[in-house]
Amino acid sequence: MNFHIMTLFPEMIEQGLGTSIIGRARDKGLISFNAVNIRDYSGDEKHHKVDDYTYGGGAGMLMQAQPIYDCYRAIMAGIENRSGETNENKKARLIYVTPQGRTFDQQMAMDFAKESDLIFLCGHYEGVDERVLEEIATDYVSIGDYVLTGGELPAMVMIDAIARLVPGVLNNDESAMTESFHNNLLEYPQYSRPEEWMGKKVPAILLSGDHKKVDEWRLEQSIARTKERRPDLYEKYILENPPKPEKKKRRKKKAAMAECDNLQACDSDSKENT
Ligand code: ADE
Repeated sequence: MNFHIMTLFPEMIEQGLGTSIIGRARDKGLISFNAVNIRDYSGDEKHHKVDDYTYGGGAGMLMQAQPIYDCYRAIMAGIENRSGETNENKKARLIYVTPQGRTFDQQMAMDFAKESDLIFLCGHYEGVDERVLEEIATDYVSIGDYVLTGGELPAMVMIDAIARLVPGVLNNDESAMTESFHNNLLEYPQYSRPEEWMGKKVPAILLSGDHKKVDEWRLEQSIARTKERRPDLYEKYILENPPKPEKKKRRKKKAAMAECDNLQACDSDSKENT
């Protein structure tokens, strides 16, 4: 999978994504990063300016349309050259990274991970001229309801989450990790050696060797943790996994109701007798 990042700070991307699991995946050729400096497409040969004042007034500078558009066209030409495709209908998705977008989540990461090329546009200053966004952006995505100084960190956050879903990027140990957000549940608590640390013991069930019981315990913990920490997710989980009515309980309930009927009958009998 190929990530193309349109940015004023390509070195940030290189440094941020060049190490650890994602860096190794790049070295293995499973993914690639193509951080392109928008400034290289400035029409201003002397100062390489890419921003200007906003029409209508207001504080701050806006990124201009033309350098962004030319940068985008160069990236698209590279993609088309590589794939031999010039199909107008099948353009690579371009994600404009902005606090005004839909909030990024695991489902979006899975959706984006199906693409062979993804282009990210990182804004700076007060934003980007609307006209170029209308022309090239397919997705507007935020990483949360707060404002950062630029789009590079959000783009890297998204790239990390997407890249780890590309087959082969995680090794078996890493991909075997039961993931938070799987099935709308947070991950259960985990423990490693020693068995006791600062007087705190590892829950006995995890040392029991009974895998079925361990799985049940983990699921219970996941549910309890989600309910406490993320009631919004818990609601989704319950909607998708409504608790099954237990047959035994129903029988018990029936018996209780029958008993209740008897009692009422007895009660009315006794009332009638008085
Ligand atoms: N740019 C600035 N803040 C941002 C955010 N929260 N998400 C995405 N892009 C941004």
